[in-house]
Order: sequence, then structure tokens, then C-alpha cells
Amino acid sequence: MSKRPGSAVAAAALGVITLLLTVIPAGGAAAAPAGSTTTLTGTATPLIVAHRGASGYAPENTLVAADEAARLNTEWVEIDVQRTKDRKLILMHDTTLARTTNAAAVFPDRAPWNVADFTSREIARLDAGSWFGDEFVAERVPTLGQFLHRLTANGQKLLLEIKSPELYPGVERQILRVLDDAGWLEEEYPGERVVLQSFSADSVRAVHEQAPEVKTGFLGTPKVAELPAYAEFSDQIGPRYTDLTAEYVAAIQAVDGVHGEPLEVNAWTVNDGPTAARIAGLGVDGIITNFPDVVREAIGG
Ligand code: G3P
Ligand code: CA
Repeated sequence: MSKRPGSAVAAAALGVITLLLTVIPAGGAAAAPAGSTTTLTGTATPLIVAHRGASGYAPENTLVAADEAARLNTEWVEIDVQRTKDRKLILMHDTTLARTTNAAAVFPDRAPWNVADFTSREIARLDAGSWFGDEFVAERVPTLGQFLHRLTANGQKLLLEIKSPELYPGVERQILRVLDDAGWLEEEYPGERVVLQSFSADSVRAVHEQAPEVKTGFLGTPKVAELPAYAEFSDQIGPRYTDLTAEYVAAIQAVDGVHGEPLEVNAWTVNDGPTAARIAGLGVDGIITNFPDVVREAIGG
């Protein structure tokens, strides 16, 4: 199993009291997730992740949502991946197409419009933007391959959620193949660029077993006593922010993840400044948000 590249610090004076240390890849012990910063006191600014893209400003899980995150200088983008009837991987949060596309209008006899009941050709016909705003009428449901291509062009990184994997047996292997084909797993430890996560422990475990070098996250709020079991196949824990206390965050970070570094905590979904500041104060490693600019304004980074 490959080890995560560590981090070194390059000092830069900032103000009279605080020296801000920027974390850069090197051979020492990791101090903070890539892209975040840490102070001399050891407190880190959480990494900001655009939830379903910058979905407060553009339709979720679309190419324009990634572009909007890039425009807001947000490197990391979270998405949800599911599988079509003809076994193609596409981006969609809900297990039906009803809320975020015009499937009900285009295919009125196909209720309840399950993703798994439509071919990729059918889904490619759908408008995935108008529900959010008339200016997004041209947006389509992207395939995972199309989305990876756009992230590469934008220089962005990927937090990929395997959504409802119980509906799509074997989806983990398929996702890993698409990532590999697109060149996203070429590094010895690709975790600086892509993390795979799920609410399904079985799915996260499957990813780890099939590709031990890949960085993984379990979504949920495990009991403290259960954390070592999750750490056997996870690098991150992703609780809902309302479930967090400083003690719980510290308890998670006290356990080493599967690649030998402390488990990281990503809180979701934080959409206002005061809450972001409070959650950052709990010591989390990442904040997942529909409004990356609002969170950045509140916490820096
Ligand atoms: O990344 C975590 C978050 O996306 C989980 O919730 O419902 O938005 O997929 P949901
Ligand atoms: Ca998600």
C-alpha cells in the first residue's frame, strides 16, 4: 500500500502575531489537507469544497457548476455519481430525474423517472438547468467522463460520492476504471486530486479493496468506539455539520486512517458565514458548501 505524500511548511510572515504556514507536498509529516493552511499554533483553515459544484449559483452536478466553482477559486468539487440503464456513469443526486431535469415533460409515461430506468442517450436529451434558472437551459446531465475532462481543464480536484450504490452492483469497479482511463489514478497516492466517498460502508470498503492507493471517505456519524473499524478502509469521515462537537472532531482525528494519517473530518453542508466560522472553530479539515465564496469570506483560506 502506498503512503500519502506528506507535507512540509514554507513560512510566510502575515501580520504581527500570526505566521501563516502554507502546506506544500514534500516528505515530512502531513499537517493539513492539500490546499489548506495552518498557523504556528497548529490550527488549520479548513479546505473548502464546492457541494455538487457551486450549486448555490448554478444547477447542481453540471459542468457549469464546476465552472462556477472555478470562477470562485474553489479547487475541490463534490459530485454524486449514479448509473444508467445502459451502465453509463452520470452525475445525479436524487435516484430519480424528476427534481433536476425535465424528464417528466419529455417522458410523461415513465414515472417515477428512476435514473436506472433510462439510457444515457435518453438522459442526454434532458434539460438539467432550467429548473434552476432560465439562463441554464442548455445544461445537460454530464457523464462522469465529461465531468473529469472539465475538471482537468479547470485544474480542479474531485470529491466523488458514490450515491446509492446498493442500486448499482459493481459500480465501484466501474468508477475506478473511468478514473483510471482519464488519468486520475496515475500518481502513487492519488489522494491529492481525488477522494471517493459514500454513505455505504460496504461501498467505501469495496473501493479500498479494489484500489488500496485511493483516498476514501465514509459519510455519516459513527460512534467513537466504532471509528477504528471505519479507519480500516477510510481516510476521512464526513458527518452532517449539525452532528459535530469539538470533542467529536478531536476523537475522529485521534484515530489514524487507512493510509496511516489522522482521519480527516469534512462537514456538510454549511451555507452561511456564521455557521462556517463556528464549524471551522471545531477544528474540521474540510467544509462542504453550496456557497464557497461565502464560506471563504467567513473563514479565510
Ligand atoms: O459530501 C457530502 C454530502 O454531499 C452528502 O449529502 O445529500 O448532498 O449527497 P448529499
Ligand atoms: Ca453528495
